[in-house]
Amino acid sequence: MNRPYIICHMVTSLDGKVTGDFLSTPECADACEIYYDINRNLKSNGFICGRVTMEGSFTGGYYPDLSRYEPVHHDMDLKMDFILDDMSGFYAVAFDPKGKLGWESNKIIDPDVDPGYNGAQIIEVLTEQVDARYLGYLKSMEIPYIFAGKTEIDVEFALFKLKNIIGCETLLLEGGSIVNGFFQRADAIDELSLIVAPVVAEKDDKPLFADSALSNFEIVNAKIENNVVVLNYLKKGERASNNNVVIKWEDALTLDEAIKSEKSE
Ligand SMILES: NC(=O)c1ccc[n+]([C@@H]2O[C@H](COP(=O)([O-])OP(=O)(O)OC[C@H]3O[C@@H](n4cnc5c(N)ncnc54)[C@H](OP(=O)(O)O)[C@@H]3O)[C@@H](O)[C@H]2O)c1
Repeated sequence: MNRPYIICHMVTSLDGKVTGDFLSTPECADACEIYYDINRNLKSNGFICGRVTMEGSFTGGYYPDLSRYEPVHHDMDLKMDFILDDMSGFYAVAFDPKGKLGWESNKIIDPDVDPGYNGAQIIEVLTEQVDARYLGYLKSMEIPYIFAGKTEIDVEFALFKLKNIIGCETLLLEGGSIVNGFFQRADAIDELSLIVAPVVAEKDDKPLFADSALSNFEIVNAKIENNVVVLNYLKKGERASNNNVVIKWEDALTLDEAIKSEKSE
């Protein structure tokens, strides 16, 4: 496989939504806790998020004054990606086609952020839509970037570069709905790790994939913990062709066992 193994790890509502106020309700707290716990324990080279999620979780809407930076003109016939000699081994990969994210450091450093993310080296995945001065800003901040597309990010090309230039073998895809949809349609999700909260979301909240194509998965694990269902699926046929299955729950119960044990308590 000439791209990293991709595990889409998400909290969902009972009706398959992944965005919205339900995520911050007390009824969703256990699901979020389990989500972060699994996130910390999955072996991967980092996580990928869409621009909106990165903004909401990490940059808080900060944006630099681009007039302070020299433009870096990129010629798409040349290799214009910017990679540091010394990169940390754990990456926060931002799918940010137009360069809208303002970072104040080249690593995720935020005491309020879950330790599973802290210290991750930021990588920007961009398209030709980006302002040349934004590249100057990223270089000045020592934030690596790769180009993958003209107007939309070509998921396959981005993943090819993340494997072959950066060396990523396994990455977590952690939302939101739009970026997940791009990956699903590119047939680039090998594994689903779904933490189902006992909550129904609201009408306008978005589903696991904002846009999707028909595809099949096989369930390989299910367990119930604190009223939350934890589900692990592999892309159909993946088990035979890929031995890079990362999740191994030592204490995992099958759904049948979990229901029996809940009943007997
Ligand atoms: N339930 C969970 O576990 C979970 C996890 C993470 C996030 N979330 C929630 O998800 C919400 C955000 O989700 P969202 O679906 O609105 O946004 P998103 O997927 O986080 O970000 C979407 C944006 O990313 C860029 N993008 C991503 N892939 C692209 C591609 N292949 N080509 C071009 N552009 C691409 C575009 O940026 P531009 O708009 O700049 O063009 C696009 O609008 C947040 O509210 C957060 O709370 C939930």
